[in-house]
Order: sequence, then C-alpha cells, then structure tokens
Amino acid sequence: MKVLMSLGIAASLLVTSTVTLAADEKQIKEAIEYRQAALHTMGWNFGPLGAMAKGDMDYDAEEAGMRAERVAMLAQMPWEGFIEGSLRDDGHGVNTDALAKIADNQDDFESLQTEMQDATAKLAEVAQQDDFAVFRKQVADTGKTCKNCHDEYRAE
Ligand code: HEC
Repeated sequence: MKVLMSLGIAASLLVTSTVTLAADEKQIKEAIEYRQAALHTMGWNFGPLGAMAKGDMDYDAEEAGMRAERVAMLAQMPWEGFIEGSLRDDGHGVNTDALAKIADNQDDFESLQTEMQDATAKLAEVAQQDDFAVFRKQVADTGKTCKNCHDEYRAE
C-alpha cells in the first residue's frame, strides 16, 4: 500500500514535471514569436521613415509623425521577449537571429535598447514638425542605434 502510494506520488510528480517542461518550451516559442513580431512591426513602420529621409518617398510630416510615434511605442516592446533559454543555440529548435552572446552581455544589450528608445522618442517629436533637415538627421541617428545592436547581437 505504502509502495503503491509512493508510486502514485512519483507518477504525479513525473506528470507535473512533464507538463512544466512543455509549458517552458511553449513559452520560449511564444516569446521568440512575440519579439520577432514586435521588431517586424517596428521595421514595417520605420521603413517609410527611412524612405522619406532618403528622398525615395515624399516627406509628409503627418504620416512621418504617426509612424515615428508608432516606432517609439514599439521600441518599448520586443525586449520582454528575450527570456532565458530563447537565444540561438539554446536548443529550442525555433528559428531566431538573436545571438547567444546576448546572455553574457545583458547590460550592454539593455543600454543599446535605451539608446534606441531615446532616439525614437526624439524622432517622434521632430518628425511632425515639418523640418525636413531635422527629420532626416534624426532618422539617420535612429537608424544607427538599430544597426549598433544588429551588428553585435543579431545574426547576419
Ligand atoms: C538592443 C538590440 C536591438 C535594437 C536596438 C534593435 N534591434 Fe532589431 N533585432 C534585434 C535582434 C536580436 C533581432 C533578432 C530577433 C530574433 O530573431 O529573435 C532583431 C530583429 C529585427 C527585425 C527582424 C524581425 C523578424 O524576425 O521579422 C527587424 C525588422 C528589426 N530588428 C528592426 C529593427 C529596427 C527598425 C530597429 C531600430 C529602430 C531595431 N531593430 C533595433 C536587436 C535589436
């Protein structure tokens, strides 16, 4: 009876840990998909700003202001998706360009986020002011903050 009971407990422990493991894998997959979606949406909105700055698209202060506000808001979002065990080579089998070395350089990774967030906040301020030269410079400065992180922590 005692043996049967402990077997029962062992079995339920086993079930619990299997369930926990499955939830972790699901969480990792969801976190990766979440951050990629947020970054993708950010890129979608930053694209026309870059095109306007380059002159490939007419500068429209209203649209620029709207897109820059979206980018500034989205700039807050991807980072909570970089959860433990979700980087490249972490063995989760999900496709990600987030390099494993992010884990060893959390402070740097976070300060690059802050620099980008500050740049996008400033961009949201100036984009709607209808001053093309100021707008263009701030798009370039913001683009640099994207590149600084991609060069270091994103796979080619
Ligand atoms: C602090 C680092 C960092 C900053 C700053 C950053 N990115 Fe990224 N970005 C990444 C990483 C890491 C990935 C790969 C994510 C993955 O695959 O899990 C990525 C992926 C992307 C993707 C591809 C998303 C997809 O999978 O479809 C786009 C688009 C993108 N970033 C745009 C931008 C833009 C635009 C900016 C600047 C406004 C920016 N990023 C700033 C780190 C950063």
